[in-house]
Amino acid sequence: MADTPNPLRDSMRLKRTPQPGTLIILGATGDLTKRKLVPSLYSLYTQGLLPPDFRIVAFARRDKDDDIFRNDMQEALQKYHGDIEDKSSLKRFLSLIHYHRGDFNQPEPHVTLSEYLSKQEKERGIPGNRIFYLSTPPSTYQAIVNNMLLAGLQRNDSGWTRVIIEKPFGRDLKTAVELSAVVENAWEEDQVYRIDHYLGKETVQNILVFRFANGIFEPIWNRRYIDHVQITVAETLGVEGRGNFFEETGITRDIVQNHALQLFCLFAMEPPAAFDSSAVRDEKVKVLQAVKPFREHDVDNLVVRGQYVGGSLMGQYLPGYKEEEGVARDSTTETYLAAKFFIDNWRWADVPFYIRAGKRLPKRVTEIAIQFKNAPLQMFSEKARSQVGSNVLALRIQPDEGISLKFDSKVPGPSSLIRPVTMDFRYGTSFGQKAPDAYERLLLDALLGDSTLFTRSDENQMAWKILDPFFERWSQQGKVDLPGYPIGTWGPPEADQLAARDFREWRRL
Ligand code: BG6
Repeated sequence: MADTPNPLRDSMRLKRTPQPGTLIILGATGDLTKRKLVPSLYSLYTQGLLPPDFRIVAFARRDKDDDIFRNDMQEALQKYHGDIEDKSSLKRFLSLIHYHRGDFNQPEPHVTLSEYLSKQEKERGIPGNRIFYLSTPPSTYQAIVNNMLLAGLQRNDSGWTRVIIEKPFGRDLKTAVELSAVVENAWEEDQVYRIDHYLGKETVQNILVFRFANGIFEPIWNRRYIDHVQITVAETLGVEGRGNFFEETGITRDIVQNHALQLFCLFAMEPPAAFDSSAVRDEKVKVLQAVKPFREHDVDNLVVRGQYVGGSLMGQYLPGYKEEEGVARDSTTETYLAAKFFIDNWRWADVPFYIRAGKRLPKRVTEIAIQFKNAPLQMFSEKARSQVGSNVLALRIQPDEGISLKFDSKVPGPSSLIRPVTMDFRYGTSFGQKAPDAYERLLLDALLGDSTLFTRSDENQMAWKILDPFFERWSQQGKVDLPGYPIGTWGPPEADQLAARDFREWRRL
């Protein structure tokens, strides 16, 4: 094993270094900068993947200067990055960070930001390559884009300009289209990077490698061999102090519209003609276009909402959703969603895709499980087969990253008993290295101008179009008490019934 080349270490990525430029983080005093952006940038820096002339400009309202902000980032790195052995590289990295104070909701600070950037670029003699990261509440996006336009920040004669926009991009089809119009007024589509961090996860990218770098799976990847598919995005976390945000989004907008539907697309798409941003995203859009639309009664029959109520998780009593800070006491926001989707195309006709996502479930686990059809004929006795299960291929996205295949096997010995066994691939064991954080990969790709792992406008809008009937039906229903599920359980009983009606059950994870 020691001589086997490690593709993670010997990655092509080592050869990909972006051009010199500046990353400007709008809303830089928020949590995302501390937890994800700066730790990921630091990792890229220590691997030599950032260009020599690179600067990070933090743009936010709070009264800080370079030194104070660098201090904050040093603390954040210690907390969220860990293992910082090389103090001198940390110091050099922190010196790349600058703080520019201003209210991004007002036009004037964008003008001073523009002057600041031009001055810095001139002094350093580097091209004006700029990438703006909108890490602000989604409700501010339109105003920010308009203010950037007024300040002339949408383009720059001495380099390229790109913009990364955090999810959620819109809150339904109508608002997504409106926001797109504002964004398209400022930039071309190839300058816009709508981020869904799930696409930066190694295991998510591996869905494509698994499917299209191997010859053995494609022939069985269809309705002829697959009984049904289950996609689970389960979290033990609650709303983590983001009650106000979650009240506006709910699990459907927070997780299903983006992360879960991205997994669904990568799993179900046709092989793209090439591994490039247009071909891959074209195929993903085709899957979304083929999803069977939900009519009013489908929302009633095929979709289950739930909300967590107080209960214990890992031995600790935790309050219910309605008792969380920032949440209305009579809230009807869903913290759990289960739904049955169909794709009306030749590959997937009549194959149910059960998707579930929820907060405060018993375990953090994201996976795609493919249950295959049973053997056409059983020649083994009922008794021998008492423990037989179906063949299941599980693509484990996190936290126990890997792929496993469950199949039946003979129990050793004179009897002819049959039991299910599992064949397992684990990332950690096979590659001996921790996968990089999703943001690391995505920031690098955006700096390099590769948008394959970002969401295109039509893709984002198609995802909203699928879910819009949910929101419409729920708004017709008004304030109804959602089915409750105690913290630490797998959602409301109605979700079990959704699968049980089809003589199936959710995987016990
Ligand atoms: C974010 C959601 O996009 O994803 C959060 O807003 C959620 O609510 C998070 O907790 C989950 O990400 P991960 O990478 O921990 O699965």
